[in-house]
Amino acid sequence: MKKKILITRKLLRANEERAAKLWDVKLNLNDEVYSQKKLIELTQGFDGILSSLTDKIDEKVINSLPSSVKIISNFAVGFGNIDHEAAKKRNIAVTNTPDVLTDATAEIAMLLILGACRRANEGINYARNENWKWSADFLIGKQLTGSRLGILGMGRIGRALAKLAKSFGMEIHYRNRSRLSPKLEMGAKYHKDIKSLFSVSDVLSICCPATKETKDIINKETLEYFPSGAIITNVARGDMIDDEAMVQALISRKIYAIGLDVYKGEPKIHQGYLNQPTAFILPHLGSATKKTRTAMADLAISNIDEFFRIGKCRNRIN
Ligand code: DGY
Repeated sequence: MKKKILITRKLLRANEERAAKLWDVKLNLNDEVYSQKKLIELTQGFDGILSSLTDKIDEKVINSLPSSVKIISNFAVGFGNIDHEAAKKRNIAVTNTPDVLTDATAEIAMLLILGACRRANEGINYARNENWKWSADFLIGKQLTGSRLGILGMGRIGRALAKLAKSFGMEIHYRNRSRLSPKLEMGAKYHKDIKSLFSVSDVLSICCPATKETKDIINKETLEYFPSGAIITNVARGDMIDDEAMVQALISRKIYAIGLDVYKGEPKIHQGYLNQPTAFILPHLGSATKKTRTAMADLAISNIDEFFRIGKCRNRIN
């Protein structure tokens, strides 16, 4: 008998067709974001869930899932939306989609850096309102050439960003849980703590996973470590930034500009960022290309397929 899989959000058509060939699937054609209550109701009698980052699958939800559910395959590399420890206790596998979104996300990380440094938000507003005239000092921004890029989290995305940023003439510094091999480091300078990294970061890119340790890692105290007029960008998760402290730092100009693709409590965005012309903000577009979204969903599907066919799965994270 075919496995029953709940796919919580709409996928690209080719992916949904593949899933429908493999399993008895429940699709979400209206792409509604399910409440936790509805998610639990819908899983009754299902063997697995193909979830997305908008599903908050916390301990309470995990413990309310029917025992038939054996796998939650997250359509994302990040899995902070799932309590994977609670899932492990119930013997529910949790998987993610690494690798396939590395390049697309690194591109958006680079876009955030360029957008924040070169005042793209202000420029777009002037151009759209046709209320500008060229002058030698109009919208002067910060040039990347020769500036220092701090990368917080030198995993796949951090390393792909380092490659791109080097081609813009940036000097790469990083902090990671462990130091990389010289081959992976590719000349980047390792810092053993965040104080040391932040103090040399003309520009910072947050590329690390959201964990208890990284929650609010950018806060009132750590913002003081940065050189005055630094730029902070975040392509990972909103949890890493204390928004109140960040907005104050933008207002005081301690931080020159910010580039954000992710937010605490998405899709809500802190009003302070919306009010700041120096905030270059995007709506979580990191992996949003056809090539990458197709590959991500394909991998999320393969993770479930592999799990049920051979009883284990390469991308299991718990
Ligand atoms: C991820 O995979 O974690 C991305 O944020 C999705 O766009």
